[in-house]
Amino acid sequence: MSKHRRKTISVIGAGNVGEHVASLALLKGLGDVRLFDIPRKEGDKVFEPVKGKALDLQQMLSALEIDAKVEGFTVSPDGKSGYETLEGSDIVVITAGFPRRPGMSREDLLDKNIQILKAIVPNIQKYAPNAIVIVVTNPVDTMTYVTYKLLNFPTKRVMGMAGILDSARFRTFISYKLGVSPKDVHAYVIGGHGDEMVPIISRSNVKGIPLENLLSEEEIKEIVERTKFGGGEIVALMGTSAYYAPAMAVVEMIESILLDAKRIHPCSVYVEKNGFYEVEDICVGIPVLLGKDGWEKIIEVPISEEERQQWRKSVESVKRTVEIAKKFL
Ligand code: APR
Repeated sequence: MSKHRRKTISVIGAGNVGEHVASLALLKGLGDVRLFDIPRKEGDKVFEPVKGKALDLQQMLSALEIDAKVEGFTVSPDGKSGYETLEGSDIVVITAGFPRRPGMSREDLLDKNIQILKAIVPNIQKYAPNAIVIVVTNPVDTMTYVTYKLLNFPTKRVMGMAGILDSARFRTFISYKLGVSPKDVHAYVIGGHGDEMVPIISRSNVKGIPLENLLSEEEIKEIVERTKFGGGEIVALMGTSAYYAPAMAVVEMIESILLDAKRIHPCSVYVEKNGFYEVEDICVGIPVLLGKDGWEKIIEVPISEEERQQWRKSVESVKRTVEIAKKFL
């Protein structure tokens, strides 16, 4: 028998996104899954939803006849207990965090989510020092920056999920407009995961036909706007943020890494200095090559002058949030 073992994917925060990451990764047969989350108190009753979710998922696998192990672990909110089983993780996904609530400023949210990261990160350092870490918690570029700084892992082993999701939205809306399969739509989004994201129109095409040959300027503008507010559109409908597409975007990253697929995806990564993208000491969405070592290389995509202006604006906006975050580090 070879020493082959199934890969281990740990997900910290088994809320909407986390549980769907688990379920999709299991369905794709990517490995075993360990879920970590805090208990939920109602009056004097204490629930451990993470353990229930793991059991439910394990039973789903029996029905599907998929061999994998799913386990749930209740952790303390301060990170002081429950994380020993992170040991041996190949991938750690962080979705733990709070969404922004009415009356809460961006700074309040940053502070709250950074405190959560501060509780989690020492456990990854201690128990999973060789893992590749994927950050989902919003505002994702800043949270990836904070995780990277706190974690002190090699740059290539820390990344944030955003660009794949924004690109999936962009491709969906293009496919709606043109009545073609999104599989044949090649289009993607770089920059910060926010209102200033940059859909790369000049490089977008449908089976090689430039988007600009297929749609009018007005139609493209409409699609770009819908993409930028794609997350908000879902929040307005559901009263909570999206989770199917975000989870699938995370699973695409996991798959590329675990299968050493060398796929090119926009991900939020720490860049110390890059002349082509004109950035320094920031995490922002850039096309990278994903393989067994994490994000292995930055891909330099030629963009138009107009897109470069938008890119600079987007980087500035991420920088502002990173500066605020530094106060809480
Ligand atoms: N330790 C571990 N888990 C925690 C902690 C903590 N200290 N604090 C909160 N969590 C857990 C919550 O209990 C919850 O189950 O994080 C989970 C977050 O899940 P949801 O609230 O359902 O949020 P979700 O929609 O999954 O989004 C997760 O991704 O898109 C971003 O903005 C979004 O930051 C949010 C993250």
